[in-house]
Amino acid sequence: MQTVIGTDIAQAAHWLQQGETVAIPTETVYGLAANALNEKAVLKIYAAKNRPHFNPLIIHIHSAEEIIRYASVVPERCFQLIQQFTPGPITFLLPKKTIIPDLVTAGSNKVAIRIPAHPLTQQLLQAINFPLAAPSANPFGYVSPVTAQHVYKGLNAKIPYILDGGSAGVGLESTIVSFDTNNEVVIERLGGVSVEAIEEAIGKPVILNLSHQKPNTPGQLKSHYATAKPLLLGNIEELIQQHANEKIALLTLNKQPVKPPVAYSFALSEAGDLEEAAANLFTQLRAIDATDATIIVAALVPEMGIGRAINDRLRRAQFINKL
Ligand code: TXA
Ligand code: MG
Repeated sequence: MQTVIGTDIAQAAHWLQQGETVAIPTETVYGLAANALNEKAVLKIYAAKNRPHFNPLIIHIHSAEEIIRYASVVPERCFQLIQQFTPGPITFLLPKKTIIPDLVTAGSNKVAIRIPAHPLTQQLLQAINFPLAAPSANPFGYVSPVTAQHVYKGLNAKIPYILDGGSAGVGLESTIVSFDTNNEVVIERLGGVSVEAIEEAIGKPVILNLSHQKPNTPGQLKSHYATAKPLLLGNIEELIQQHANEKIALLTLNKQPVKPPVAYSFALSEAGDLEEAAANLFTQLRAIDATDATIIVAALVPEMGIGRAINDRLRRAQFINKL
């Protein structure tokens, strides 16, 4: 299959109507989309990504009014978050209506719903009459793509079309929230909307439910965001000394001189800006993978705002590649 990169919304809509997959730009990361109501189309997402079927998918809709077509219960607090943060980098886990195939939710009675903000994908969603199931558009286990070129690198010849919407502005996946039996807000995955912003919106603390590899969120495997090279996280001076015989690529928030000097040094944001760091993270990890460094040594960023989501992704990248 030939993979075309373009900006033609009608072409993208056409492929989706045919039951094919199309990579779409969102403000978080690129998604690999298909008609969420068509099981055969959804299966093509899993096949292209090499993704296990027990890993559920987020459905994307164009506006809040559509949410009740797919969710059977929407708590008042959810509407509050919808109003405050959508369209945007937040996903709601809600009881599903039967119209959503079990394949999309991996058998769960809850469906993850998101209203993305990217203008091209907004136009695309308005041009079709079904929601789009879309995981991040990367081969299973690898770092999520934030440009059309990243998608092409991972999925070339496996999908017909990549809708090119430039670089993703946020650069990290959406924040996933659910609601417990008391309708309290539960954060299931850290992402583009910070915990602090949500707490400010609802006027009280949220519950964090971030333990990985839980049976109810099987997709949250730690290895989800891994680089090809081993990534070590911690005290960078110590790690550099311990691995003196390796060719080291250093990844820090802003560049700092280290001893002994390392082969490569990458900064997420020279100004120390966490939003900029988030937008650069996956591109920098890919750039490091493209060097001849043998290991990556990274430092956590300040544990605040979107910095918490950056650290979450760094920790997950570290897990499987431990030396
Ligand atoms: O920003 C994003 O959320 C991007 C863009 C493309 O929208 N999407 C994304 O999808 O990150 P994905 O598949 O890489 O991660 C979605 C995660 C899954 O790993 C899964 O754990 C969780 O969402 N999820 C989806 N549906 C769920 C469900 N019904 N129950 C529990 N968790 C669910
Ligand atoms: Mg993903």
